[in-house]
Amino acid sequence: MDIETWIPVVYLITAVTFVLGLKGLTGPTTAVAGNRIAAAGMLLAVAVTFAAKEFADYGVAAIGITAAAMATGSVAGVAGGRMVKMTAMPQMVALFNGAGGGSAALVSILEYARSIEVGSAPAAGAVVSTVLGLMIGGVSFAGSAIAFGKLQGILSPRAYRYPGQRLLTALVFGAMIVLALGLVLDNAGLVLVERPTALWAIAGLALLAGIALVMPIGGADMPVVISLLNAYTGLAVAMAGFVLGNQLLIVAGTLVGASGTILTRLMSRAMNRSLANVLFAGFGASAGAAVAARADDGRTTREVSTEDVAILLGYAQNVIVVPGYGMAVAQAQHAVRELADLLEAKGINVRYAIHPVAGRMPGHMNVLLAEANVPYDKLKDMEEINEDFKNADVALVIGANDVTNPAARADKSSPIYGMPILNVDQAKNVIVIKRSMRSGFAGIDNELYLDPKTGMLFGDAKEAVAKVVQELKKAA
Ligand code: TAP
Repeated sequence: MDIETWIPVVYLITAVTFVLGLKGLTGPTTAVAGNRIAAAGMLLAVAVTFAAKEFADYGVAAIGITAAAMATGSVAGVAGGRMVKMTAMPQMVALFNGAGGGSAALVSILEYARSIEVGSAPAAGAVVSTVLGLMIGGVSFAGSAIAFGKLQGILSPRAYRYPGQRLLTALVFGAMIVLALGLVLDNAGLVLVERPTALWAIAGLALLAGIALVMPIGGADMPVVISLLNAYTGLAVAMAGFVLGNQLLIVAGTLVGASGTILTRLMSRAMNRSLANVLFAGFGASAGAAVAARADDGRTTREVSTEDVAILLGYAQNVIVVPGYGMAVAQAQHAVRELADLLEAKGINVRYAIHPVAGRMPGHMNVLLAEANVPYDKLKDMEEINEDFKNADVALVIGANDVTNPAARADKSSPIYGMPILNVDQAKNVIVIKRSMRSGFAGIDNELYLDPKTGMLFGDAKEAVAKVVQELKKAA
């Protein structure tokens, strides 16, 4: 049997490694192995593709260009993966995702242009996949670029809105779809548009549509949007697979499309918001507002010192650490681990309560705490630990805000009403470490800070935890 016959078999094996890889990525202990399995499958698929006869037919120059492009991509990928800070991970995903969408769109353009050059009208099915790949890939490329700009601070993270915005966006999408239909009908003999002009116009409109879709979304909602754009890229890649007649691209694109869609739904649901609300409500446009340190009924916040916190923790039996976005910003995970080690050495039971949307990306807290070698069995999902807060002597909230806000349970007018939260307010004592009275992502007050059993330790999470560690060491 020649190598050509083996290519589909290798592609099938690779598809299985992708599924196994995704399965592995569902748990912290299996994630690294899952990633490696999928990467090994990808390497195998790339290697056999080089051996394909069709590829050799393109000549040495094509092989050279492909190898150079792969080398550039690999260097950029390895360097980016090693250098990027954990808090900058969402924008890196946006960048990679945009590259995938853009590539799929380019494949569509080039393959269509080639079929016109050869003079044979492409089959109707191929035209449909081409225009779909071009539209979805273009939207994903431009949308991801805007998402990257917002997260990297190159563009303002605010939700950008103006009167008639939705109408204009609808018109851009409408014009793009009409032109795409024109191309499909053209294929059936009805010449309505000049083919290359229409193709470039669709490409331009797809880029505009991507910009129009993402500009009105607040920077803090970007992780959900990136996950959605990731699903789009998957679909665009699957369409490119149809255009090129490559089964592996179809399978890989469909897997990315499906997993991106599931992740988008999970993230929206954990925030108790519909996807439409994320896309159109302009939520998160005003994060960072100062919140009240005193309520109308005279309740005020109670500030505590590092010494107070060390004493309280030293006498506890059960401590639940609640990490949030602030722990990530401060890179406090190693200091937190050191604190937990000291407490555990005193026989105190320390666990971590992980909210599904704590931080700014799925699994954000798990990744950070794993980096600091916190044992996986100490990390407890919300459902698993929520009942235990009432038995905790201290809930130690480190840079978390919205995920602890009791308004989600009680206040129907609150934007986060209905979002499942960690029952921090049920602990016997609560310590909150944050820098100020500023709000979190949702831009709202947190009643927890006015609760008489809550002590506020103001400061950067890393420095504050390190000081508590010093106090505990002094007392030992
Ligand atoms: P947030 O509610 O955003 O609160 C984080 C808090 O950390 C802020 O109030 C801030 O207060 C504090 N902080 C910032 N830098 C700090 C530092 N260096 N040291 C100490 N504290 C610091 O975070 P959360 O509780 O983790 O909730 C996550 C929010 O993001 C939710 O509303 C969620 O819906 C949303 N969201 C999550 C995701 C995913 S998938 N995780 C995706 C999109 C949106 P100060 O400024 O006073 O320090």
